[in-house]
Amino acid sequence: MNQVFSNSAKNQQSTFNNCSHEQLIQLGWPDDFDFEIDELCQTLFLPFIEEQLDILREYDKKRNPLSDYMFYQHAYDAAKAVRDTALELGLGQRVANNMYYATLIHDLGKPELPPEIWDIDGTPNAEQKALKRKHVDLGVKKFENTFNYINHPFKDLAIDIIKHHHEAVNGQGHYGLTGDEISRPAKLAAIVEHYDGLTHPRPHQIKRGDKFDAPSIFEKIETRYKGHFDQDIYAAFKAMKLNEFNNNTPVLDIEEETPSEELGL
Ligand SMILES: [Fe+2]
Ligand SMILES: [Fe+2]
Repeated sequence: MNQVFSNSAKNQQSTFNNCSHEQLIQLGWPDDFDFEIDELCQTLFLPFIEEQLDILREYDKKRNPLSDYMFYQHAYDAAKAVRDTALELGLGQRVANNMYYATLIHDLGKPELPPEIWDIDGTPNAEQKALKRKHVDLGVKKFENTFNYINHPFKDLAIDIIKHHHEAVNGQGHYGLTGDEISRPAKLAAIVEHYDGLTHPRPHQIKRGDKFDAPSIFEKIETRYKGHFDQDIYAAFKAMKLNEFNNNTPVLDIEEETPSEELGL
């Protein structure tokens, strides 16, 4: 058993298990509404989420078919990982579900950009990197423009995650925010985002024989990206992922699962 593996057993985190409803809200976790029964969530935000996922799926079809990093699948994988980590942290089903729905649309700005930008052969140059980063601001704009007349905590949560899912606590993220300038939900989304990106091999990584199983990815994160992530949330995410890896949880085939089923409709 390697080092990454054995550490995971000790890292079972239920950091927020004993927090009250009020404490969770104070800590920035979205426990002040319940997406699954809230009227505005069900009548306004849910149809919007479904629409954005359909747009992502259509957009993926315009991209290089050789790329295995499809954004429709990524949206579900990221949302599921956020939900499972929230449960691992002891945040409860309501926070986990609210985080799930907000994360589904974290990359809604991507289809605003030319599809070729995502599958460049080799390392993108500074200009191409800057263009890719614009998906964050474009996503915020799209969401804000659609719901500019609404005040709702889901709107605040979604905008936070859309805007800050590429932040790093050491200031090396998109906007250079550090530590407590980044909310806990955004810190969680950033960990999941980073991990999921690393599970999709680039051709040069395959050529040099990189491994892409969960323990290898954690080794890579801990070697190259030390200090990027909130340690408690990272530990819970890692415990959840390694548990999944150990139990060899089958990955759901997105083709066999309709969005409506996945959304719990
Ligand atoms: Fe993103
Ligand atoms: Fe993403």
